Amino acid sequence: MLGYFKIFLGVKTMSFAKKFDLELDDLPSMTPRISKILKQNRITSVSTLAATSLRELVGLYIDSDTAQTLIDEADATMRQSGFGFVMGSKLLDEVDQVEVLTTGCKSLDVLLGGGLDTQRLYEFYGPNGVGKTNFLHQLICTAMLPKSKGGLASRVVYIDAEGNFSTKRIRMIAPEFDLNVNQVIKNIPLIKIHNISELLSTLEHHLYPEMEQTGARVVLLDSITYNVRGEYIGEKNLPIRQGTLGKIAHALKKASQAFNAVVVVVNQITKNPKTDEVTYSGGNVLGHAVQVRVSMTKAEKESNDLYKKDSTSHKIRFFVDKAVDLPRQSCIVMMDSRGFRDIEPGSQDAQEEVKAKQEV
Ligand SMILES: Nc1ncnc2c1ncn2[C@@H]1O[C@H](COP(=O)(O)OP(=O)(O)O)[C@@H](O)[C@H]1O
Ligand SMILES: [Mg+2]
Repeated sequence: MLGYFKIFLGVKTMSFAKKFDLELDDLPSMTPRISKILKQNRITSVSTLAATSLRELVGLYIDSDTAQTLIDEADATMRQSGFGFVMGSKLLDEVDQVEVLTTGCKSLDVLLGGGLDTQRLYEFYGPNGVGKTNFLHQLICTAMLPKSKGGLASRVVYIDAEGNFSTKRIRMIAPEFDLNVNQVIKNIPLIKIHNISELLSTLEHHLYPEMEQTGARVVLLDSITYNVRGEYIGEKNLPIRQGTLGKIAHALKKASQAFNAVVVVVNQITKNPKTDEVTYSGGNVLGHAVQVRVSMTKAEKESNDLYKKDSTSHKIRFFVDKAVDLPRQSCIVMMDSRGFRDIEPGSQDAQEEVKAKQEV
């Protein structure tokens, strides 16, 4: 029995991935028997097979030499289709395929170079209560917007490891984007995760078929370190903790490329006991795997009397901490019951922000 709960499985649609993903049966060493075994185990495409481990295939009673050959063939096929090493001209095709998802806030989109790109793994990290989970809820809504409004007109796979997914919050945010609440909720394949093995199993066996079947082009994970930190405690578990995080990040990154998808994970912060420095959890492994890392901090401490009177909204500073092609800059947005919004141009908040930037 599957060790996870999947709350929704949408109508099968033709996904982007299918356009350039070869059939399993096209692989030179594939046999009808093995093809059948793979499909029975939800390894239904070349991209899924390429991301499957040798151990897993051997576990399906496929002999290890054949299994290795098939993985190599799948991997080579993926590379030929534009993943892995690519020629410049092919690279241009890939760039053409990149699409951009709005966050629903112009200032944040600008900070991110236009919005959230497909084929990228993003990490948003920050302290408890800053608004990370809420931000993912907003992205669920923007993802479902038509492309003309900055969305991807896409279903969203939401992997909930912290148990904080809230349809109530969707009900508040979706109308802001003129979306039908029930339609939004119906289009979220929600996967609830309770421990690391469920998370790994979801990523290894279920995520790619899910994306293929539902056409989802956005994957959100709340949060990437929750189970890993909870289950692998202490310094002696550091190697397994890091190895597991690496696996999770790798699978997500692969999903972003194989399905031309936006993948966003949120992360907690941690304090280095030796230096007292506060940073994202997960250390170097995660640091190297994510392509864009953004910190979220509460901005109300920055002398804002208006905020203090208003307990139904809060200001959040987004800061691009790491990205290969974005400057290290920040912006402030508001979050209230209706979700995240730009601060009003000309408002006291906006003026203070301009002043603060001039002073820097
Ligand atoms: N309906 C709402 N109206 C205004 N603020 C809200 C609402 N719901 C949640 N919040 C704000 O969101 C915060 C929790 O954000 P959350 O996304 O759970 O943080 P994180 O995931 O970073 O721990 C609350 O402390 C509150 O300030
Ligand atoms: Mg949260």
